[in-house]
Amino acid sequence: MLIRKATIHDVPAMQKMVNSFADKGELLPRSLNQLYEDLRDFLILDDDGQVLGTCALHVNWGDLAEVKALTVDESLQGQGYGRKLVEQCLDEARLLGITRVFALTYKPDFFARLQFRVIDKAELPQKVWNECIHCVKFPDCGEVAVIRELV
Ligand SMILES: CC(C)(COP(=O)(O)OP(=O)(O)OC[C@H]1O[C@@H](n2cnc3c(N)ncnc32)[C@H](O)[C@@H]1OP(=O)(O)O)[C@@H](O)C(=O)NCCC(=O)NCCS
Repeated sequence: MLIRKATIHDVPAMQKMVNSFADKGELLPRSLNQLYEDLRDFLILDDDGQVLGTCALHVNWGDLAEVKALTVDESLQGQGYGRKLVEQCLDEARLLGITRVFALTYKPDFFARLQFRVIDKAELPQKVWNECIHCVKFPDCGEVAVIRELV
């Protein structure tokens, strides 16, 4: 099992993975257009060429980035891969000089295990909402904002 940067060839499988969880209401769906545009944000969990997990780090502002589209195939959940994907994104954030990483999630307890804390969504910059207002679930998505400060 390998965690690596996504390539253009992974995109259809990434969409299948992300949208299979979106269908169950666990995260937001992604169009192919969004995935191609954000390709450089993505890490994938690769098993011999098969996409079995996804995670994106998207830079929002000078000191702020977001962890997005985190998935681990159901057959592999509970084995530490979700943690590894997020930690690799945090390492990348550190390399970029980013000091705060947030997520909007239905799984705040998972992020709490990775030293994220819950914050009021209003503490996030308005720029984040510019994306949210295009979402079909806005403003009642029920996602919780969590953040981790990096040292
Ligand atoms: C959430 C998800 C990514 C977790 O991945 P995972 O590989 O199963 O998680 P890990 O095995 O790395 O777990 C890391 C820690 O979080 C805990 N954890 C995992 N899922 C959890 C959950 N749903 N609620 C609370 N804690 C959770 C684990 O017990 C573990 O704790 P520990 O290290 O202290 O023992 C995975 O369940 C998933 O893909 N879910 C569907 C999509 C989704 O909800 N994505 C998140 C949207 S932001």
